[in-house]
Amino acid sequence: MNYHVLTLFPDMIQDGLNTSIIGRAMAKGILSLEAVNIRDYAFNKHQKVDDYPYGGGAGMVMQAEPVYLAYEAVCQKIQGKPRVIYLTPQGRVFNQDMAREFAMEEDLIFLCGHYEGIDERVLEEIVTDQVSIGDYVLTGGELPSMVMIDAISRMVPGVLSNEESGQTESFAGNLLEYPQYSRPEEWHGKKVPPVLLSGHHANVEKWRREQSILRTAMYRPDLLEEADISEKEKAWLSQNLKLEGDS
Ligand code: ADE
Repeated sequence: MNYHVLTLFPDMIQDGLNTSIIGRAMAKGILSLEAVNIRDYAFNKHQKVDDYPYGGGAGMVMQAEPVYLAYEAVCQKIQGKPRVIYLTPQGRVFNQDMAREFAMEEDLIFLCGHYEGIDERVLEEIVTDQVSIGDYVLTGGELPSMVMIDAISRMVPGVLSNEESGQTESFAGNLLEYPQYSRPEEWHGKKVPPVLLSGHHANVEKWRREQSILRTAMYRPDLLEEADISEKEKAWLSQNLKLEGDS
């Protein structure tokens, strides 16, 4: 997977993504990241990339041509026309299924806007996917593109070790993670659930599955409608939700 990020803040992208699991995958050559500075494609001597909006109003608009030239430079380099993701609160809200789908691409271009947005004409011409990371407004597309790159990269084969990819499966069934514990066995008077110390693998798995279902029902009931749970588990859940409610 090769990411190409068109941005006015290339350092933010490079610095934000070269650590931890994503940094390790880049060092191994499973992922590559190129932050393209849109300012390098400004066509005036002041390297200006924005101008006043036609029709008036507050703020500045990123001009079409530098964005287009930066996009063309990437296409030339890779000899292809990859999907172009424009980060905007107007877009489709990003989720795990989208991360999985984007992970199947070989190249992806992320277009990060700033100021009051980008000239609509270049968006019409190059953007294939408009994506939002949630219903709030950020100052630019850099953080959203980093969020997306992190989530997509986890889905690229070889990025996570076998041990780490087990973690991914739980969201696949639309369920939240079960709680985790490590040493010591007792901390601030709170004991680790005894089943986890039993060494009984099947019981541990059963307990974790039940905890995932219970947590999803308590914290994200909206996810439960799409969750992959059996009739028996549903019955177990309604019983236990009643118990939670009573306590
Ligand atoms: N740009 C500004 N806010 C955004 C958001 N919530 N998602 C994606 N891009 C954005």
